[in-house]
Amino acid sequence: MRIAIFGCGQLARMLALAGWPMGMRFSFVAEEAEDTRCVEGLGTIVRWQDSMTAQSIFKTLEEPDVITIEKEAVNTALLQQLSHYCKIAPNPEILWVVQHRARQKKFLTELNIPTAPYVEMHDKQQLLLAGESLGYPLIIKSCEQGYDGQQQWRIHNQEDARAFIEGAVEITHAIVEKMLDFTAEVSILAVRNTKGEVAAYAPSENRHRNGTLSVSIAPTEVLHPKLQADLETILNALMRNWDYVGVLAVECFIVDEQIMVNELAPRVHNSGHWTQDGAVCSQFENHLRAISGQSLGSTASLGHSAMINLLGCRAPDELSSLPHAHLHWYDKTLREGRKMGHINFLHESSGALQMNLSHALRLLSD
Ligand SMILES: Nc1ncnc2c1ncn2[C@@H]1O[C@H](COP(=O)(O)OP(=O)(O)O)[C@@H](O)[C@H]1O
Ligand SMILES: [Mg+2]
Repeated sequence: MRIAIFGCGQLARMLALAGWPMGMRFSFVAEEAEDTRCVEGLGTIVRWQDSMTAQSIFKTLEEPDVITIEKEAVNTALLQQLSHYCKIAPNPEILWVVQHRARQKKFLTELNIPTAPYVEMHDKQQLLLAGESLGYPLIIKSCEQGYDGQQQWRIHNQEDARAFIEGAVEITHAIVEKMLDFTAEVSILAVRNTKGEVAAYAPSENRHRNGTLSVSIAPTEVLHPKLQADLETILNALMRNWDYVGVLAVECFIVDEQIMVNELAPRVHNSGHWTQDGAVCSQFENHLRAISGQSLGSTASLGHSAMINLLGCRAPDELSSLPHAHLHWYDKTLREGRKMGHINFLHESSGALQMNLSHALRLLSD
């Protein structure tokens, strides 16, 4: 089985690392200036150029059986053309909706899925009106190309709004969202295969630093079982509605003991990295099983897990050599704030996990 992946980052790397033992072979599509270090040695890397046709890309990718993605910002028109040559999962129409924040919010709203109140903005001058209708504080999110808190601006009051309007940032299309006073952030990952079977992982609690995920804990203890059931219902409905194939992640806020969906990710997700060491079958293995027409592996948790992202730093030796630590390093060039790797912890009890997590976080901040 040959799989091609659009994107050459750590998610592509971990998909390939999960697929090699299953006899899968990989190729990767890189954009012109994309850093490909994460996937070097794991398969053929094809640098996409405007002059390439779908047929020539398919050939240079060594005629994959399935094409998948590791990021939302992909050329969906090209994927549509490639669908004449092989399977594409998830399907490009879904990617087209999810890769654009306004399209995604509209879609969630139409399905009556609770989400933060918002308005669309094509011109910065509309910000004061948005402030009047939604109330402050607000968060501006560019419709395209935003990830890890990038292309987002927090507006706390009218003064901030005026300063933003006069500032240098140009906006062509964004959403302005009400900033929610949430008690926790959680996410849930589910996977659906070509036969329509669905399985979900235990939801995780996610803590962020400057808009970037820093720690995930699973199974979370902050989610009431009723809310977990609600979340699974939302995911099931989405997946069935879309005839979805692969892993789908849903990021949520808990506000007044209710779920508000923040965003969807049609791919393997950072908040699911704990499954590599803390679930029977990881999100990476299950995504590959799903898209290659196999049955799903068990999503059962093996214990209590935590994942710590290594943001712009190496793991101190005392940390990566802790007895319950599993280091995953992406082989990237070190840069401030960049996701360099992560460490997973697996413990038998929640108490032991909490104790070790505090210790590990102290080692990281020293
Ligand atoms: N409406 C909101 N209210 C409060 N916090 C928010 C809101 N939207 C985003 N955030 C915070 O910013 C983080 C990143 O925003 P998100 O929309 O998930 O973008 P990204 O694509 O960068 O992950 C979230 O995980 C959350 O911590
Ligand atoms: Mg997010």
